[in-house]
Parts: sequence; C-alpha cells; structure tokens
Amino acid sequence: PAIRLEDYQPPLYRIDKVALNVELAPGATRVTATLEVSRQPGTEAGAPLVLDGDELSLAGIKLNGEALAETAYAATADRLELASPPADPFELTLVTELDPDANTKLMGLFRSSATYCTQCEAEGFRRITYFLDRPDVLAVYTTRLEASKKDCPVLLANGNLTETGDIDGTGRHYAVWHDPHPKPAYLFALVAGDLAEVPDTFTTMSGKEVALNIYVEHGKESLCDWAMDSLKRSMRWDEEVFGREYDLDVFNIVAVSDFNMGAMENKGLNIFNDKYVLADPETATDQDYANIEAVIAHEYFHNWTGNRITCRDWFQLCLKEGLTVFRDQEFSSDMRSRAVKRIADVRLLKSHQFPEDAGPLAHPVRPRTYHEINNFYTATVYEKGAEVVRMLQTLLGEQKFRAGLDLYFDRHDGEATTIEAFLSCFEEASSTDLEQFSLWYEQAGTPVVSVETEYDPDRKSFTVSLSQEIPPIAGQKSSKPAVIPLRFGLIGSNGEDMETGSVEGANVAGDVLVLDKAHQDVVFHNVAAAPVLSLLRGFSAPVRLNQPLHSEELLFQAAQDRDPFNRWQAVQTLAMQDLVRLAGLVRDGSEGTPSEDVIGVFASVLGETQLDEALRAQALTLPSEADVAQEIGKDVNPDAIHTARQMLRRAVAARIASSLVPFITDQSAGGTFSPDAQAAGKRALAHRCLHYYAVSGAADATDLVWSRFASADNMTDRLAALTLLVHDHMPREEEALAAYRERHTDSSLAMDKWFMTQATAPGNETLDRVKALMSDPSYDAGNPNRVRSLLQSFATGNPTQFARMDGAGFELIAESVLEIDKRNPQVASRLLTSFRSWRALDPQRSALAESALLRISACENLSRDSRDIVDRTLQ
Ligand code: ARG
Ligand code: ZN
Repeated sequence: PAIRLEDYQPPLYRIDKVALNVELAPGATRVTATLEVSRQPGTEAGAPLVLDGDELSLAGIKLNGEALAETAYAATADRLELASPPADPFELTLVTELDPDANTKLMGLFRSSATYCTQCEAEGFRRITYFLDRPDVLAVYTTRLEASKKDCPVLLANGNLTETGDIDGTGRHYAVWHDPHPKPAYLFALVAGDLAEVPDTFTTMSGKEVALNIYVEHGKESLCDWAMDSLKRSMRWDEEVFGREYDLDVFNIVAVSDFNMGAMENKGLNIFNDKYVLADPETATDQDYANIEAVIAHEYFHNWTGNRITCRDWFQLCLKEGLTVFRDQEFSSDMRSRAVKRIADVRLLKSHQFPEDAGPLAHPVRPRTYHEINNFYTATVYEKGAEVVRMLQTLLGEQKFRAGLDLYFDRHDGEATTIEAFLSCFEEASSTDLEQFSLWYEQAGTPVVSVETEYDPDRKSFTVSLSQEIPPIAGQKSSKPAVIPLRFGLIGSNGEDMETGSVEGANVAGDVLVLDKAHQDVVFHNVAAAPVLSLLRGFSAPVRLNQPLHSEELLFQAAQDRDPFNRWQAVQTLAMQDLVRLAGLVRDGSEGTPSEDVIGVFASVLGETQLDEALRAQALTLPSEADVAQEIGKDVNPDAIHTARQMLRRAVAARIASSLVPFITDQSAGGTFSPDAQAAGKRALAHRCLHYYAVSGAADATDLVWSRFASADNMTDRLAALTLLVHDHMPREEEALAAYRERHTDSSLAMDKWFMTQATAPGNETLDRVKALMSDPSYDAGNPNRVRSLLQSFATGNPTQFARMDGAGFELIAESVLEIDKRNPQVASRLLTSFRSWRALDPQRSALAESALLRISACENLSRDSRDIVDRTLQ
C-alpha cells in the first residue's frame, strides 16, 4: 500500500528510554529490549500499541516485569500489537532472536566479513527488535553488548562508553554505551569484531577534547590517515563556518566492506563503506581521495543536520540530506577550488538527477507518496535538494541565509521536524515570503528557462525576455512558475562585465535576477553597446537553459566570461552542439566532420595557462555519451553517439598532438605523491592529454600509454593509463589487465576498479567478458561494491553495450536483478534503475528494454523494492 504525506499522524505512544542487551553469537544473537512507553497527550487510555517488526521472531515479552498473557498481545514477523496497554507509563521488555550471519539484505544487524554491524536507516531497527520505528519517536539509548572476547575484542555502540567487564569463566566480555541525546531508531548502531583502532583527538572550540577513532581490519591502519585528516578538518570547518560544535566525548568511525550505501551517520558511531575511508597512493585515485573527504564530512555534518535536528517522517528526507549535501559541497569548495568543485557537482546533477527528473522515476524533492522509502535515497532528494538550499542562499544572501540557519539550529534542536519549519526560519530571519519558493520541494521536473535578447542602440536598452516551463510529468498536473535566481553578467566587447543603469521587469539584487513568473521581460537601461548575456552563472538554479547563442557568442564566452563556470559551460555547449549534429549524421549514414571552431576552442583551452590545471582538464573533457543522449532526448541511438564522440575526440587529438607531450611528462618528475587539489589537478590535465595523445596517430602513442601504466607510482596514473589501454583496445591491453590484477589481488577496492574498467569498455566483446567475470574467483555476488563495479557500471557506464541491438545487454541486467533481488533487494532495485531512460531510446532498442522489464515484472516474488521500481519504470 502507498504511504502518503497527507496521512501523517503523530504517534499514539512515546518511547522515552530504550535499554538494549545484545548477546552476540554466530547464528543466534539474543536481543533484550526494555522500552519505557507512555501515552502521548490526547491518546485514549487503552488504545492499542502497534510496534513495527521485520522478519522478527519474539522469544519473550514482559510488561512491568511480569509475564504477559498470550491473549494480551499478538506477534507476527512484522508486527507486535498490545491490544490494551496500561493507561500509565509502563515498561515493555521484548526478547528477539536474530541470525546476523543469514542477513543478506544488509539491513538491521548483519555481518561483514566477521564483524557484526548494523544499518538502521531507514527501517532497519525493526529487524532488531519490535519498535515504533519512525523518525519522530526519540529515545535515550543505553546499549549493553556482550560477545566472545576473542572474536570480538572491540564492542561499540552510540554515545559514550560507561562500563566494561569480563564475564568470568565464559571467555565473554561486555561493554555498556550510553547516548544522552534522544534520537530516532534509524540512528542506532552497534559494531563488534576484531578490528584495529586508529586513534586521534580533536579539541573543540570550547576546549573539550574528543577522542576520535577509526576502526578497520587489521593491517589496514595505514590506509586511514586521509580519512582522519578529513574528519578533523570537517570538525573545525563546521565550527568556523556554521558555529556547530561536537557534543559527545568520542566520535567513532568503522569501515566495513559489505555495505549497501556510502556511509551512515549513526550518533557518535558512523559506519562506512570502506571505499569512503581507506586510501593510499597505491590503491586510491585522486577522485577517491576527494570522495573520502566529502563523505567523511557529510556524515560528520549530519550530527547537527540530521541527528540533533531530525526528520518528522521520511517524506522530509531532503530536510537532512539536501542540507547536508549542501554543507559537504561547501566544505569541499573551501578545501579545494570552488570553481572546479562547482563544475563537478553540476556535472553530477545533470548526469544523474536531470535524467531521473525527466523519466518515469521523477518525483519532487519532497515526495508525497512512496511504497518503499529505500527507493527515495535519490539524486533528486540529495543533489537537487542541495541545489534548493543553495538557491535559498543565493536569494537571501549569505548573511541572512546564515541567520536563518542559526534560527533553525536554535529553535529545532532536539526535534523531528519538517521542511515547512525549516523554511519558516529563513522567512523570519530574512523577512522574506518563501511561499512560492517552497514549490521547489513540491514540483517534480526540471524547469526549462528560455531566453531571448534584443539590444536597442537608439535607446541604449537591452531587453531580456524570459520564460519558464516544466515539461509534462506523469502524475503531475500543470505546474506553477518557480522562483528562479539567475546569476548573470552583461559582457562587453572588451570581455569585462558592463555597468548598467536601472532595471525594469524583475527583482535584481547585485548580479542576481529573479525570475518568478511564467513570462518576464527584463529591460536594462543605459547599456552602452550590445552585450553578450552570460546567464545562470555558477549554475545558480537547477534548470535547463534554452538560450539560442550563435557560435561566435559562445566562442566569445568560452574565451572571455569572467565566471569560470559559464566559461566551462560555453565550451561544453559548443562541443554538445557539434556532437548532436554529428550523431544525427552518423545515424543517417551521412558523412560529416567535426566543426573547426570547436576543435579550435579545445586547442586553445590547453594553452590558457592562467586557468588552473584541474579547470583546464574539465574543459578538455567532452560531454559524455550519456550527456549527449540526454540532450538528444528521443530516438536515441547510442552507437551513433559513440561514433560521433570518437570522431570529435580524434579530431581534437590530431590538432593538439604536438603540444601534448610536455603536459603528459610534466608531473611525472614531481617527487612524492600528494593528494592535494593542486597536484591532483596536474595529474588530471596530464591524463586528459594522454587521452588525446592515445588517438592522435602519433607513432609512439602506445609506448607512451604503456610506459605511463608500467611506471606509475600511484593509482591515479596507473588507472588512467589502464583505462586507455582497455577502452581504446590498444596493443598490450590484456598484458596490462593481467599485470594490474597481479599487483592488486589483495586489495578489493583496487580490484573493483579492475572490474569496472572492463565492464565499461566499448565494443561487442564486452558482454561476454562481463559474463565471464561474473564467474571469476574474485567476483562476489554478495558484496555490493563488487556488484556495482561490474554490473552497475556496465548498465550505466556502457551505453552502447547495455543497449545492444540483440537485447543481450538488457537481458544480462534483467537476469542479474532477479538473481540479486532474492538476496539483497536494495542492491537489486538500484541496479534496476539503470533502465530509467528506456523510453528515450530508438524504437527497436526501447522494445528490447521493455521486454526485459516485463520479464522482471512477471516475476511474482519480487521484493517490494524492485516491484516499486519496475512498476514505476513501466507505467
Ligand atoms: N543517511 C545516509 C547518508 O546519506 C544514507 C543511508 C541510506 N540507507 C538506506 N538503506 N537507504 O549518508
Ligand atoms: Zn546523508
């Protein structure tokens, strides 16, 4: 049945305290939960108490310490009902028996390698004990863990450690943890295992010393330095930028290798997918380092935005996720180059969120209905949610934005709240009406902003005609105009932004123009000469811009715009226009050659030495095949797009071949490896150059790529070269794969990259290779990272092979979804979302995709997760 936002009812009962006694043992773990339950004001005496469960078995129940008559309650695997509980507060004691080793869903209590660990968001706590498993029930938890001292020397739970001891003569020991901060059940966590501890400390702004620990498998201690450094920088940054201080004596992080998502912000005990903790130059790329920094920060920042202030219900997920993504983006921008970070974030938004918002899985940032909440941890909730917060900052200005956030922290600390309450804080702090702005949370779909301009030389006026529209979305009636902050500049012929006189027709504050009607004519007076309008600078709103610029104007912007984002965007737009044109020609079997102008722009970017290397590397990256498919939008033929993109790549390569070598060799002289943004930027530019050199026709291209591979002293260089050897099917491809494997067999994170590189190689032979890799001894269908590195990257990162004309790519993924679904529904349903753009494919391919989807849909015992995705995808 669908859960609806409008049906929200506060809970009838509250649970103020939870005492858990968890007796861990392989195969049979006993959990005794003692709950202090009381009626909410307004609840009738004797109203039934209904607790959630999921695959539970009840082994004991007591009320106020007394055994309960069997007629007084009814327990099933997913529900425990007390027909008429006492009117006064009471204590309910429940015993459940779990088998963590058999828990392949990785929700609730499970084992990763030998370590016991938990994942409770969104609804995993009900797999541990019966509970009011909803985020508006906040309790103080005391957790006692007991386990074999030999197997589990480390026992961790939320909060502060209060007691430890041995249980004489049994070889077992225990630890008691107390978390004084009331929290919802989804933030509960425990960990027990034989782990190494990497300790450090942090002194907060008020002088409190916090013990920091990262727990990892023995032998991996040396891979934690970057994560620890990132944690300390995050803690300092949140104090300096948002005034947020940490609030427990200890902050623990545990890295596990089997994890459905990226990481989890459990109070005082964050649990991480190890790919977002472990790094050294030998096994992690620069991108991995950047991701670790961002995810460590993200989870830490949740301590305030998520934990101290949590969500009233799961419809409000963006309240914590959108805001926390915004915060981690700001952190990374401060740690690195703001422009480079912004471009990376926008690329992610456009490549993941835009297609989601344009397809059958579209939903508002705050959904109104769901069948399975796990399917709403989406790019829309996270990334678009962050953009909405960013727009708020742009509209209100930094000071008022900060005042609104301060009010939010002040007013709602300790509460489970809503988007409405969040927005009210900004309304009050800034005296701004945000009613229309709140539509960003309500309406699905990416608004299209269309622009036309006219310069009147006699009146010296410049008119900008703007309109906005959200394309039709299934299930969404007509949409209303949104509030769209457009950062802009009028660029004069000298490349400088022009000063203008008064502006009519829109609210303009500084360099931000607010579009809030369906149509708006904005007139700038006293404009000395016809400008080029640079609009949506910094990507100030998550919209598609439909601004018909001539290629001379784009070339001008690409060379002159003082906004680095729009400069990059102009280069991309030029390339995109040419790729769309070429793909059309290829599809129709016509001849075509890449535009000389476009080749020229790329050639000149290389020499713009005043731009930093990372920015040049980004500008030299052609739009991806998926980007081009999205731009084309219908009747998509991935083969034609692939061919077109290779044509442009080769043409650029031929033009710049003679300038590339110095960039490629430049950084290899550079001494010891450093993961900082500047060194990473140098490597990124070198790899871009190598990427072109590989197809430049230069006689020594293969030798150069091979030697880069063979002599690399870090993973970033090695993987870049390996990817070229494999994706461009260069000589020695197989030799390189074998050498890589040999070198990295013991690092599963490095082996993930080996699987991914092969799964994303273009060419018909990839399908068979992927099938063969599924029975490789290093493949593990139970490990989410491994499944993602092979199958998810094939489905989302190999457009020509996933959408093969024989349907075998779709079939492989459909079969895999069915297989994985039996074991781990979350991983299966995530893989299934790779079909989301199937209707945009050409008729033959979309028919093949549809029949694969129908095969999945015909399966009767699909999980709720996969059923929900397949139904919506086909609707
Ligand atoms: N709150 C976590 C984060 O954003 C994500 C957890 C999602 N887990 C899930 N099973 N849906 O950091
Ligand atoms: Zn989060």
